Amino acid sequence: MATERHDPVTGRVTTGHEWNGIEELETPIPRVVFFFLIVGTLFAIGYWLLMPAWPVGWTYTKGLLGIDQRNVVTQQVEEAAVSRAVWTDRVGSEDFAAIAADGDLMRHVRDTGRTLFVDNCAVCHGVRGTGGPGFPDLAAGSWLWGGDPETIAETISVGINSTNDDTRVSQMMAFGRDGVLESDQIRSVAAYVRSLSGQELSEADQARVPAGQEVFAENCASCHGEDGKGMVEVGAPDLTDQHWIYGGDAQTVYTTIYSGRQGHMPHWQDRLSPTDIRILALYVGALATDGGPQ
Ligand code: HEC
Ligand code: HEC
Repeated sequence: MATERHDPVTGRVTTGHEWNGIEELETPIPRVVFFFLIVGTLFAIGYWLLMPAWPVGWTYTKGLLGIDQRNVVTQQVEEAAVSRAVWTDRVGSEDFAAIAADGDLMRHVRDTGRTLFVDNCAVCHGVRGTGGPGFPDLAAGSWLWGGDPETIAETISVGINSTNDDTRVSQMMAFGRDGVLESDQIRSVAAYVRSLSGQELSEADQARVPAGQEVFAENCASCHGEDGKGMVEVGAPDLTDQHWIYGGDAQTVYTTIYSGRQGHMPHWQDRLSPTDIRILALYVGALATDGGPQ
């Protein structure tokens, strides 16, 4: 071994390596590194003995403490269901008026209802339930079938023009295509319909209103009512307000009357539990007053 050389400045031993006159000091690995290496190794061995660790063929070393994350999750899910049952049982059994009057219970309903609505309904009705062309605004308070929770729960359960045996049936006939009304009569009744919601009409349309009113009384009032305010028995919309499913402009109203409309709302009886349907009914029923999910 070469003779030990000392660095003249620090007095430390050098390794003997030298690059262009610069020599490398012999610096030992600090003890603290060994300390942590040993502590880390001991911890790893201890953890391996106590907890599930190594894969062994089809199984694994289970560890002395017998901890299994799967059991932990199962237990947590059970606990959550039990704590949820405290209020879901009430929603499932009490009548709607009692639930709606209970602020605490309604807070649960609103939180869970929002999630259920976003997961199942928002694709068609929008995240806030405000709908869009062809999909009614559920927050408008202008109901086709009725806005009390019982009625909404029934609508959700059986759907509208759905494949369910008890489905609600929504039939706005194709008055033009089926030859019931002439194009001229359709134009007149469209003008009358638009006058009902207080729209400003062109002079020509204004002149058509009286004739349109007659066509309406003969062909439309049976479903939409003498006054055009709709009829929940047949799901016919109120034509006098500002809320439209398809649109209140002249062209859209003409198309609606000419070609008819049959909106499709799926039924949820087989997909959601009765309690979830009740939660949604309360949630949707409150949309009009709450202004939608925050
Ligand atoms: C595939 C689209 C679609 C989905 C998904 C959907 N709906 Fe609908 N929904 C409709 C359509 C379309 C109508 C209107 C049918 C019509 O024009 O008569 C409607 C009507 C309704 C009505 C009747 C409103 C009234 O004025 O009486 C309610 C209540 C309703 N939906 C709630 C829900 C809820 C709650 C969900 C989620 C569980 C949901 N909808 C999911 C399309 C959908
Ligand atoms: C058999 C009952 C029935 C008759 C008769 C009927 N309607 Fe309808 N009407 C409906 C129903 C139900 C809807 C909703 C259709 C849907 O969305 O599924 C509707 C929808 C409409 C709409 C669309 C409203 C919107 O919000 O976009 C207009 C406009 C309308 N009807 C006008 C008329 C006129 C005008 C007549 C007469 C020429 C008439 N209806 C006759 C049942 C009827």
